[in-house]
Amino acid sequence: MNSLFSLHGKTILVTGASSGIGRAIAVLCAQQGATVIMTARNKERLAETLQLLPKGNHHYLSTDLTSEEELKELVHHLPVLDGIILNAGMVKTVPVPFIKKEDLEYMFHLTLHSSVMLIQQLLKSKKIKTEASICFISSVASQKITIGNSIYSAAKGALNSFAKSLALELAPKQIRVNAILPGMIATGILDSGVVSEEQLQLHLKNYPLGRFGKPEDVAGLSIYLMADVSKWMTGSLVTIDGGYTLK
Ligand SMILES: NC(=O)c1ccc[n+]([C@@H]2O[C@H](COP(=O)([O-])OP(=O)(O)OC[C@H]3O[C@@H](n4cnc5c(N)ncnc54)[C@H](OP(=O)(O)O)[C@@H]3O)[C@@H](O)[C@H]2O)c1
Repeated sequence: MNSLFSLHGKTILVTGASSGIGRAIAVLCAQQGATVIMTARNKERLAETLQLLPKGNHHYLSTDLTSEEELKELVHHLPVLDGIILNAGMVKTVPVPFIKKEDLEYMFHLTLHSSVMLIQQLLKSKKIKTEASICFISSVASQKITIGNSIYSAAKGALNSFAKSLALELAPKQIRVNAILPGMIATGILDSGVVSEEQLQLHLKNYPLGRFGKPEDVAGLSIYLMADVSKWMTGSLVTIDGGYTLK
């Protein structure tokens, strides 16, 4: 492959690498030549991801990103990074009258606060290289609204705004910041019972390309954003959704 798409010599942090999209991103980054550092809470599933990677100096650090102490510990152990993919996240489908304060707070804590704090601490400890690339995994739900998704949509919308602000702030250092907005991707997040099989089949009709996404679809785009080929790209919210938002 053209070296512009290569990740050889780059060290990339992937959050939420213990399953789904994050796991696919970690695998593809390593296949493209990067040294990958993975984080999530579940050590066993992180170890499973590590097994899927080609040989290299890859490793994982188990961290609950919503814990201030664990986040500091993570940053302390990280090397200087060429790429950061902030993918850890959760879904919560609940109509507005039933939103609990703790659900709202946890959604924003994991989606927004931990992302802001991680980037802030990495910047303060000078662990983000000049010309590095930062990529947030947001969601089309931040822009295309569906009933019951309000706190998820709002948190991802806030993340988009943060990504754009950060892009402007870090541009003088040639650090690029973009966000990927995936449509529905077939991962464990869908098995959590938040959406019924019947609802999924109905929702599939909204996808002009006739299928939901695969984690690898998102991983492919993240490679583009990590690689030098995209070095004039910053502040973009990139949709990848099989045509979902065309309708
Ligand atoms: N699947 C979709 O349809 C879809 C669509 C658009 C956007 N997205 C976004 O894509 C990202 C990945 O989603 P996915 O579908 O791959 O879901 P997933 O399989 O449930 O993965 C979520 C990841 O986040 C990690 N995580 C959750 N809470 C954490 C915490 N407190 N600290 C550290 N890590 C934590 C999980 O690891 P542990 O449990 O081991 O901590 C897991 O690795 C999310 O941000 C999601 O919002 C997904």
